[in-house]
Amino acid sequence: MSEITDVLIKALEAGGEVLMRHYAALDSIETKGSAKNLVTVADKQSEEAIKDVIWSHFPNHSILGEETGSHALRGSSDFRWIIDPLDGTTNYAHTMPLFAVSIGVEFKGEVVAGGVFNPYYKELFLAERGSGAALNGTPIRPSRNATLSQCLVVTGFPYDTPEVLQRCLSEIGKVLTHVHGVLRLGAAALDLCYVACGRLDVFWQRNLYPWDTAAGWLIVEEAGGKVTDFTGGQFSPFGNEVLATNGLVHEEFIQSFGNALR
Ligand code: IPD
Ligand code: CA
Ligand code: CA
Repeated sequence: MSEITDVLIKALEAGGEVLMRHYAALDSIETKGSAKNLVTVADKQSEEAIKDVIWSHFPNHSILGEETGSHALRGSSDFRWIIDPLDGTTNYAHTMPLFAVSIGVEFKGEVVAGGVFNPYYKELFLAERGSGAALNGTPIRPSRNATLSQCLVVTGFPYDTPEVLQRCLSEIGKVLTHVHGVLRLGAAALDLCYVACGRLDVFWQRNLYPWDTAAGWLIVEEAGGKVTDFTGGQFSPFGNEVLATNGLVHEEFIQSFGNALR
């Protein structure tokens, strides 16, 4: 295992430890931007704990964290760590145990390692570019369902305007009749990992952020799945659309819904 992955695991565990310390023990819940967009002491302390681990090993690596933004203050490096210290804050705040720490590591703008850790279920999803993806050390691969009619799919809602949310609802209406079911779990990083390991077949969402998808993107691709935008174009964690599938139903999803989602 590379030194990067070793530190990645330590950082995920440090964040996870903070999350479990405050789990079901929050004194207050704040909001940021909109009344739906929650933030807790756990989000903030997790990000600090993660940054401490990264900078204690790599003082010149850049960091982009959801809660504290962009840090390239300690000298430049080709590495940038993209951190979601708590993905699934709404679940977490309600003691629903679907939440995770998500960290992607870029080298010269390419994600080379990624990890997503759910400390409640002790599930650690990891990928290194070119080396596959694993769940708690065991290699994972996506499902083999070859048609949408066999699929269990998941989507997510951004913290957004009523118009965007209406659009999300109408998208679900379109997809629902073609698949076994549509879920909304509330943690995008886990949605991606669940596609990677075959629990789910498709994940789509609009208006996510790089910290939601950087790690999960690599985990899906290294597991053997596919990630693009809604119409099959190159995916970017900095873009607006993510479509992740087991690979086998990717084209069918795009043909059936790609343009309708635009
Ligand atoms: C959110 C979750 C959710 C997704 C939202 C994200 P947060 O992240 O991943 O599933 O639908 O768009 O913002 O705020 O819990 O880190
Ligand atoms: Ca998130
Ligand atoms: Ca978050």
